[in-house]
Amino acid sequence: MTDSLFRCEKINKHYSDANQDLQILRDVDFSISPGEKVAILGASGSGKSTLLHILGTLDQPDSGEVFYQNQALFAKSKKQQARFRNSELGFVYQFHHLLPEFTAAENVAMPLFIKGDNKKQSLKHATELLARVGLENRVEHKPNQLSGGERQRVAIARALVNQPKMIFADEPTGNLDDKNTESIYALIEDINKEFATAFLLVTHDERLARKMDRTLRLVKGKLLPDQKGR
Ligand SMILES: Nc1ncnc2c1ncn2[C@@H]1O[C@H](COP(=O)(O)OP(=O)(O)OP(=O)(O)O)[C@@H](O)[C@H]1O
Ligand SMILES: [Mg+2]
Repeated sequence: MTDSLFRCEKINKHYSDANQDLQILRDVDFSISPGEKVAILGASGSGKSTLLHILGTLDQPDSGEVFYQNQALFAKSKKQQARFRNSELGFVYQFHHLLPEFTAAENVAMPLFIKGDNKKQSLKHATELLARVGLENRVEHKPNQLSGGERQRVAIARALVNQPKMIFADEPTGNLDDKNTESIYALIEDINKEFATAFLLVTHDERLARKMDRTLRLVKGKLLPDQKGR
């Protein structure tokens, strides 16, 4: 498996409180090749976001390891993990996580600012990406001045800004109307073709899932090839 971009081995995750123990992920094995597009389907509460967060080092597994280009991610320090996320990954969160005090353009440019890139150039690049997601007239708006779907598109533009090798997206079309959903499908295709970016999407949108190279389903803590066919 030397050619995988991402690989996880035997990931386990549970949540417990005084009353119950919930085993969310059970020995999940998964790998994705450079440039591959994969969708994960699964019922609400099945652990899709949890898995995505662990793969992106935003959450810690109980056991198991995640490898990026054969480097063990949980052997890294928190600081190294943060640097890795900023330079190699794009993340579209289920609840966007935009910074409320910054404009759309500044939010999109934030990974570049963190890297120490030139501010003006970074904002120019961010503005171009916002145009690409149909938000050329919302560049100076702050998140509370944007609709839910517009915020989602800002989050997608932010995930693209570093030209990452891998994009994780949690329900990227969840709040979008048909027209914007179509434009996100097209954007994913374009980015994948242009930069060979790999995508791992969590979605309830079966149409989006069918556009990926592979579709998996999270059932009872196990990640399995989707049985419904393509
Ligand atoms: N911090 C936490 N403490 C306790 N339980 C949690 C915690 N985070 C998540 N869970 C539980 O773990 C399960 C999986 O959550 P997760 O967010 O991964 O689901 P999901 O598949 O992304 O669902 P959805 O499709 O609704 O977004 C849920 O039942 C949830 O209640
Ligand atoms: Mg979720």
